Amino acid sequence: MGEEIFEKIYQARSAEAQREIYDTWSETYDADVKAQGYATPARMAAALAGVMERYDAPILDFGCGTGLSGAALAGVGFTVIDGVDISEGMMASAGARGVYRDLRVIPVGEPFSVAPGTYGAIAAVGVIGSGAAPLSVLDDLAACLASGGYLTFSFNDHTLEDPAYEAWVRGEVDAGRMGLRHRDYDAHLTGLDMKSAVYILEKS
Ligand SMILES: C[S@@+](CC[C@H](N)C(=O)[O-])C[C@H]1O[C@@H](n2cnc3c(N)ncnc32)[C@H](O)[C@@H]1O
Repeated sequence: MGEEIFEKIYQARSAEAQREIYDTWSETYDADVKAQGYATPARMAAALAGVMERYDAPILDFGCGTGLSGAALAGVGFTVIDGVDISEGMMASAGARGVYRDLRVIPVGEPFSVAPGTYGAIAAVGVIGSGAAPLSVLDDLAACLASGGYLTFSFNDHTLEDPAYEAWVRGEVDAGRMGLRHRDYDAHLTGLDMKSAVYILEKS
């Protein structure tokens, strides 16, 4: 598929519409994003490796898709990675990467929950934003962390145009619920001249 798939996904307005598009896109997703120079997973993984002391702490790759983000985490040395996603099609090829301990399809539109402390870090790379999963998902993920756990996620340029997303980060930090451990703004999809901000928040 060409560049039109990116427009289609950025304009999807519901989780169900997202899931359908990703299910259809799954077979060519890796080739399509690689052709556009998809850089955010490697940036997130390098940043997380810089703040986490234990590389054997379990990490949840939320919205793992075909596993590019899990592969990036494994590539910097993390050894226990689980993946969840709403799109069965996207996850079909994730297992073959051999980097996940467990992979699970989760229901569309239901709040995600695991016991706090199950994961030392939760990553949502390319998952939250305009035409993607809503901010409430970050609240759900933050609730799954114990004190000292990390939440890492990215907002692309489309998402950053809406001030609500960065306001959510400021709100969490200002309220003392999270500490900002990392933010950088750099390449996302170089072929589309798009950048993203990568964040790491630590639960207070
Ligand atoms: C751009 S892809 C990113 C996949 C992978 N993290 C990567 O970096 O290649 C976005 C993924 O988020 C998933 N997704 C979208 N909304 C979601 C939600 N509410 N809960 C879980 N996964 C979701 C999609 O199915 C898709 O696989």
